Amino acid sequence: MPLYSRLPMKALAFIAFIAFAVSLGAHADTNADIETGRALFMQKGCYECHGVLGQGSASTGPALAPHPVPLSAMQAYVHDPKSEMPVYSKRILSDDEITRIHAYLASLPPNPPAESLALLNDGAAPTAQASVSPGHGSSIYAANCAACHGAGGEGGAGPALRGIASRYGTSDIEARIREPSGIMPRLYPHVLNDENVRDVARYVAQLR
Ligand code: HEC
Ligand code: HEC
Repeated sequence: MPLYSRLPMKALAFIAFIAFAVSLGAHADTNADIETGRALFMQKGCYECHGVLGQGSASTGPALAPHPVPLSAMQAYVHDPKSEMPVYSKRILSDDEITRIHAYLASLPPNPPAESLALLNDGAAPTAQASVSPGHGSSIYAANCAACHGAGGEGGAGPALRGIASRYGTSDIEARIREPSGIMPRLYPHVLNDENVRDVARYVAQLR
């Protein structure tokens, strides 16, 4: 084979390799980055306004997931927000940390239907003293738990909760909510108060 027809092949293979390597690099959101991003999203209080799963709420902050704004836009916005959002200076939250938060938000599955987030859309503030009505536990569940445990407790990112009463009493369920393990977020006391925890635990206990 003449030399001139072999060189371009090598060059092409090289270009293809570089393109492949670059595409790998562009998607290098490792699980560790996503996990760090989730932790930062909780620690820095983003979840208080944007929801644990970045689902947003009409009264506190817009949805950030599952399709967050581009990374550079997020970095620019967080350091210099336009109206009600607090400023996070680069000393408080570095561009690197925002990259991880972005990886977390981009990793989230598509949101559950908006109506299942009714409680957050009502703007139930962490301190809201909700009255105990029969449907109350179910709306807390829909807003804060269903995304991971399934609308009917059938499970998803979190374990199934149907029939949990055969293993746990209501107070054990409350304890699991107050002191969660694994990747389950700690919603108490910032998002759910004592009364909310009690109501949602009662609701979970009767899931069949
Ligand atoms: C006190 C409530 C609050 C907190 C805490 C908060 N935000 Fe926001 N955020 C808002 C509100 C409200 C807006 C809508 C625009 C505005 O008022 O600034 C917003 C807008 C944004 C936007 C622009 C969204 C868009 O669609 O243009 C991004 C990105 C964002 N927030 C990211 C974050 C991150 C990341 C954190 C945590 C480091 C955070 N926010 C913490 C309230 C909050
Ligand atoms: C971001 C996802 C997520 C959200 C939101 C979430 N959970 Fe969980 N939950 C989990 C995961 C994951 C586990 C398993 C924890 C482990 O690995 O130890 C879990 C465990 C539990 C358990 C213990 C189950 C068992 O069999 O031991 C209970 C009870 C529970 N969650 C209730 C709730 C309730 C009630 C809510 C809403 C107030 C909620 N969770 C919100 C992910 C979530």
